[in-house]
Amino acid sequence: MSVRERKFFVGGNWKMNGSYESIEAILKFLTEGNISHDTEVVVAPPSAYLAHVRQKLPNNISVAAQNCYKCNKGAFTGEISPSMVKDVGAEWVILGHSERRNVFGESNELIGEKVGAALEEGLKVIACIGEKLSERESGQTNSVVQEQLAAMAAHIKDWSRVVIAYEPVWAIGTGRTATPEQAQEVHAFLRKWLSDNVSLSISQQTRIIYGGSVNAANCRDLAAQGDVDGSLVGGASLKPDFVTIANACQ
Ligand code: 13P
Repeated sequence: MSVRERKFFVGGNWKMNGSYESIEAILKFLTEGNISHDTEVVVAPPSAYLAHVRQKLPNNISVAAQNCYKCNKGAFTGEISPSMVKDVGAEWVILGHSERRNVFGESNELIGEKVGAALEEGLKVIACIGEKLSERESGQTNSVVQEQLAAMAAHIKDWSRVVIAYEPVWAIGTGRTATPEQAQEVHAFLRKWLSDNVSLSISQQTRIIYGGSVNAANCRDLAAQGDVDGSLVGGASLKPDFVTIANACQ
């Protein structure tokens, strides 16, 4: 039995990976893998496969886009809109991922606007924040994540449709996971920030999940931390290990 205050949440961010053929294997372990009812599971395929994956998965697994723009239509070549994400049946969108920030140069301001637009359209948002290695080493972790979160919070009216993902950039795809204590420390800081700047009840209800080299071996120790409400998984979400990670709350 789960005694968690907040429902455990595990997201699978497939990033720019997959083909119709390789996705078959992922759909198979997701549908046949005995995922706990105590976990809310969301997978984020590339936008080209969103509708296909939504149609193939049972309803207990939600689907997220990995990004969307801040407008619903118009001359924005290469972008997809919040209303398109909704139209193809996806319920969630990941915004502010460090790869969007650091590879594609998205600013805090733009990400905040995108969060507002996605929520306005009725989507739920996995809102990502996290510091770079140089920022951690120079003692700026809290100020960086606080600034990133504040930029998004300014556009959030309904926190029940937001999950915060803390993903330290130095832990993403590197095999260098934050220790459970390092994750807990930042999560507790973020929860306090919510309490001080939004409200106590929002701080108690909002899920804060961890991302960065989460795997089948380290997921339980991370999940055991009081302020870690799940994980956002990259590489391991393409493998059957994802089912183990989704069940790490048990
Ligand atoms: P990895 O699990 O591959 O480190 O990626 C984490 C991530 O960026 C999830 O959004």
